[in-house]
Amino acid sequence: MLDKKDIENKLKQYNQEHIIEIIEKMSSEEQQNIIKQILEIDFEKMAELYKSTKIKQEMEEDQITPIDYIDKQKIDSQELKEIKQIGEQIIKNNEYAVVTMAGGQGTRLGCNGPKGAYKLDIGENGKYIFEILAETLKKSKQLYGVLPYWYIMTSNQNNKQTIEFFKEHNYFGYNKQKIKFFTQGELPMLTEEGKMVVENGLIKTGSDGNGGVFTALKKQKIIEDMKNKNIKWVYIFGVDNIMVKPIDTVFIGLTIKQNMQIASKSVAKAYPEENVGVYCKRDGKPGIVEYIELPEKMRIQCNKFGELIFGDANIISHLLSLDAIEKISNQNLTYHIAKKNNLYKFETFIFDGFKYLDDMLVMRVKREEEFAPIKNKEGIDSPETAKKIYENYYNVI
Ligand code: UTP
Repeated sequence: MLDKKDIENKLKQYNQEHIIEIIEKMSSEEQQNIIKQILEIDFEKMAELYKSTKIKQEMEEDQITPIDYIDKQKIDSQELKEIKQIGEQIIKNNEYAVVTMAGGQGTRLGCNGPKGAYKLDIGENGKYIFEILAETLKKSKQLYGVLPYWYIMTSNQNNKQTIEFFKEHNYFGYNKQKIKFFTQGELPMLTEEGKMVVENGLIKTGSDGNGGVFTALKKQKIIEDMKNKNIKWVYIFGVDNIMVKPIDTVFIGLTIKQNMQIASKSVAKAYPEENVGVYCKRDGKPGIVEYIELPEKMRIQCNKFGELIFGDANIISHLLSLDAIEKISNQNLTYHIAKKNNLYKFETFIFDGFKYLDDMLVMRVKREEEFAPIKNKEGIDSPETAKKIYENYYNVI
């Protein structure tokens, strides 16, 4: 264990000496807390990450080529029957789990607390996002007699509130034995000058992006827990899509039939300039190309049927075998820099993990059936647009 002098030297070495003065003014209990936190920070890694903010982020020079997709609507009835049976069996055997990634900060939505606790103006009394997700997952019980295991990834910032929220609402009628919360990793946020910031007695941190799901599943022993439960397939999705459809035997069955370890759902890009990431191959491996990375020529390029070649938008709905999750969890994903509330935040993205697998299935689904994200306070991808899609689909009067 390092003593106080060592901590001071460390802070000085990494240009964080302003924290020493702050610590000196703290109560001894506060000092203990922040020192405990400091001991866990990888200062060398933070110095590297800060350096990366000063280098113009190079676009990766990977060779970007299209990836095939299968349109769910166009699967013929004979095959549909066969794959549904395969998928159904996985659910009925209790080999299926879902992971909700709810560790984001919801900065754009500007909600205080977990995004899943956000209440939408739907139906007579309104509905919380987590409530809608619970209702969606409970359909599995009606259809196949089995509730999937539900793992919810939180962040240190919202973990307590999320757990309290579920308790307060009696888990929205979900069997609480089948719910497990786990927290994702976090990293200090940095000012433009590379300084860490102390807030409420601790160094201000931010969750390490939705790519942190892999390390979190490993470190929090969820992979182990899943193995013990004989879970084979895991559907990972973002908390903020209220139309997400994880109970999808076609999707599960098709992935297995195609002998894939990973599959993602996509929706057709609405128009060439839509600001979304699309599925592709990067140097022959599955991945995503972000809107700004895609040259204009490729953005508008169409096939002989007049469809965009890079036209399958990411809706953060991924199905992975447990083996694939374990494999990716042993890799170091690249960090991307985001600016949130004037501080640098370092995040990895879930799809950056896909390149560690040889191939993937992309299954295109209907936007109006499976995609209603809640990102912004108003305008596009807001509570209002999501409410419209939800009410249209479920015929809410
Ligand atoms: P977004 O990139 O939309 O981020 O996350 P966000 O934090 O919710 O919102 P902003 O950018 O601050 O406005 C996409 C999905 O990934 C999850 C989010 O909860 C959301 O479901 N996520 C994101 C995490 O679970 N952890 C993270 O560190 C980041």
